Amino acid sequence: MIRLAHFSDIHLSASGLDWTLRDWFSKRLTSWLNHRFRRRHKFGLADEIVERMMSDVQERCIDHLIFSGDATTLGFDAEVRRAAEALQVGRMPGLAVPGNHDYCTLRAARSGAFERHFAPWQEGRRIGDHRYPFAQQVGPAWLIGVNAATGNRWPWDAAGSVGAEQLQRLKQLLAELGPGLRILVVHYPICLSSGRPESFRHGLRDLNALLGVAHAGGVNLWLHGHRHSPYYFQQPTGASFPVICAGTATQRDLWSYGEYAIDDGQLQAVRRVYDPAGRCFRDAQTFALQLTAHKL
Ligand SMILES: [Fe+2]
Ligand SMILES: [Fe+2]
Repeated sequence: MIRLAHFSDIHLSASGLDWTLRDWFSKRLTSWLNHRFRRRHKFGLADEIVERMMSDVQERCIDHLIFSGDATTLGFDAEVRRAAEALQVGRMPGLAVPGNHDYCTLRAARSGAFERHFAPWQEGRRIGDHRYPFAQQVGPAWLIGVNAATGNRWPWDAAGSVGAEQLQRLKQLLAELGPGLRILVVHYPICLSSGRPESFRHGLRDLNALLGVAHAGGVNLWLHGHRHSPYYFQQPTGASFPVICAGTATQRDLWSYGEYAIDDGQLQAVRRVYDPAGRCFRDAQTFALQLTAHKL
């Protein structure tokens, strides 16, 4: 049996951000306005909750941590560094992929800040020197990190894409891995909690291509964030495997993370929800998923 903790969308920020003139004419300005006037109060306890969550997972015999992106608010280096410190990256084994906020602008994406600060959680098997995708073996399972954050130009564009080259490497990596369950981790969902597709401005633009590679490569489970309410499907439309959205770990009233015990192709999940009165996490929803592949 392996025990995983899956959390996402912590959206930490930091003081002393190094704004440049170019940032004021980039997506960072609208993202900052959105944060300052709409989201800041929702994430007011984010730092405290991450601290409590890390204490919680350390007490619960977790084998491996999974972080599915959006560590930051604006993707500044100082924010990524602070998020990695708060998550104690490297102290426990883990896997991390970036979200659209971590690649807030093209420059943020190209800076390599996420990959630098989360490096211990991106160790693993990969194709040549390419950072993504990568695979980590945890007991009888493979965790496969895929990057779909792209660093978009326009303020309204929160979409992502894996890209043809990474898809080709993913195909090769999946073909090379030994036997065992295959758990794909990416920031973007297959569908909304309603089962409907994500919008063009907020979803994964090459979703069908990624689903095709995942299906052919024997993926058994798709873990993601991006949407801030948690949900799961045993078999969403277009997929041959289950999917779990972790939701946000830190947003007011949605704060939770998932704990998954996997044994013999069966996943037992417990959603651990933050209790602000007790300042601790407690069990909430439980559910089970079958990880054997289904026919499309
Ligand atoms: Fe998010
Ligand atoms: Fe996101």
